[in-house]
Amino acid sequence: MKIILLLPIFFILAIAQERELDWWETTIFYQIYPRSFKDSDGDGIGDLNGITENLEYLKELGVGATWLSPIFKSPMYDFGYDIADFYAIQDEYGTMEDFDRLIAKANELDIKIVLDFVPNHTSNESVWFEEALKGHDKYYDYFIWEDGAIDENGNLHPPNNWVSVFRKSAWEYREEVGKFYLHQFVIGQPDLNFRNPEVVEEMKSVLRFWLNKGVAGFRIDAIAHLFEVDKELYGGRFPDEPLAGNLEEDPENYNYLDHIYTKDQDETFDMIYQWREVFDEYKEKDGFTRVMMTEAYSSPQLTMRYFGQGDREGAQMPFNFVLISDVDGSSTAAEIKYALDKFLTFKPIDKLSNWVAGNHDNSRVASRFSPELVDGINMIVLLMPGVAVTYMGEEIGMVDGYVSWEDTVDPSGCNTDDPINYWTASRDPERTPFQWSAEPNAGFSTGASTWLPVADGYETLNVQVQSITERSNLNVYRKLSILRTKPAFRYGRYESVAFNNDVFAFKRWYNGEIYIVVVNFREKSYIIDLTYFDNVISRLEVVISSIQSPKNAGETVEATRADILGNESIVFKVL
Ligand code: GLC
Ligand code: MG
Repeated sequence: MKIILLLPIFFILAIAQERELDWWETTIFYQIYPRSFKDSDGDGIGDLNGITENLEYLKELGVGATWLSPIFKSPMYDFGYDIADFYAIQDEYGTMEDFDRLIAKANELDIKIVLDFVPNHTSNESVWFEEALKGHDKYYDYFIWEDGAIDENGNLHPPNNWVSVFRKSAWEYREEVGKFYLHQFVIGQPDLNFRNPEVVEEMKSVLRFWLNKGVAGFRIDAIAHLFEVDKELYGGRFPDEPLAGNLEEDPENYNYLDHIYTKDQDETFDMIYQWREVFDEYKEKDGFTRVMMTEAYSSPQLTMRYFGQGDREGAQMPFNFVLISDVDGSSTAAEIKYALDKFLTFKPIDKLSNWVAGNHDNSRVASRFSPELVDGINMIVLLMPGVAVTYMGEEIGMVDGYVSWEDTVDPSGCNTDDPINYWTASRDPERTPFQWSAEPNAGFSTGASTWLPVADGYETLNVQVQSITERSNLNVYRKLSILRTKPAFRYGRYESVAFNNDVFAFKRWYNGEIYIVVVNFREKSYIIDLTYFDNVISRLEVVISSIQSPKNAGETVEATRADILGNESIVFKVL
């Protein structure tokens, strides 16, 4: 009787200590690359109806929000990141009615839809760019134009040495206007001019258009490239960028230069804060927070500026790319710890961290680390303090697909002009169709062919097989997403250690509940003394173990001598 009376009081006291968490702070964001998720009409290309029909799958994963890579009208030179009409859906992905149905179904399931906002550039087939070429002043000023340089023989050259992220000059000449336009990405992606207030307003209208349709926020694409230096400070011409000092690098490569004039400019941050104000107009009306995730591969100091400054708020989630940029399967446990500590060290104390190990621009976890480490990396992404982001397919440990030079379509691969080494730059391998089942085309499409080939091994590596296999990456993922809702992971503190070269471990604890996550990055086995961590004594219980592990949930190990086998990843609970 007493216990029954005391429990609710204890419960109220316990939660009263913590601020109530907002929807986005506790959820998992799942990135869908729509072209490759599910094809509903057999044309070999994924589409909106394919997503709508499979939202239940996300629900079963414990995912509460999905970020969709661009679904807008596009000639697809950069597979939708070159947008011809920011207010329209690409035909092969569906119609506006399909989009409305997607939102309605997502609402029913309480899954938030986050869209990709691509402010840096349009498509060269957008009405804006076409009008600019016709000499329509308003639209001419939407873009960045510069006179060419003429050499002593009278030949025309690009205005300066700037190179595109995808190689070669970032300038393209247009006879119609007798000038070069800037494109930091492919030729089909002319950069917008954010020093023009009309562009600023136009892009805010784009945000409002989709917010009015009920989206829960945006992932902001390529934000570090938004502004170029103000050329008025340099006598009215954009200056050359200095060499980065990689002399063995090909001068046509992006890394050849130090991008001091085209990346991470101060003005970028103010624009982020302005967009957040737009989001907050909506929150003021209905109390529901719209989220912003910013994509910038920048230093931690710069990344933190996206959070806000003084009383101005910015992005809730400036992407923390350490698991993509700083470490891989060859990293030592110390390097892993160092990388994971980085964001936590630099972030403002009142902001949340976020964790992401894959996306449509980077090699998959199973390929960059190893298939054996898929569970271990998912444990890190889902159990570290902060928001988790999963790229579709990482929950089943998809591997990079083999895409021949002939089948390569990604401009980053094609622009190498190198039939041998193209794969080092191509992003097609991480974009191959999602593996639903052992059926033809991995159940992705009933069409005769798919826009990219399905990866080898899909007959056994797919959702259907993993759903019915007790020990599978998918089932580990599902268990992690449930475990993640425990207070220790929502509110708990964090401490980590590299026990040796290979074994990394971290502790999460809250109100007497303690969890230890151990990831062995190598094949070698170890006996580890987990009493290194405060309050870890006597025995620990296995809660979740990686699929290769012989340990079952419920088994216990002795804290002073836990045997950690090669490539084993385990979540323990302290008894
Ligand atoms: C971002 C996208 C990438 C795209 C580029 C240009 O980095 O993630 O896929 O190619 O921006 O929009
Ligand atoms: Mg289709």
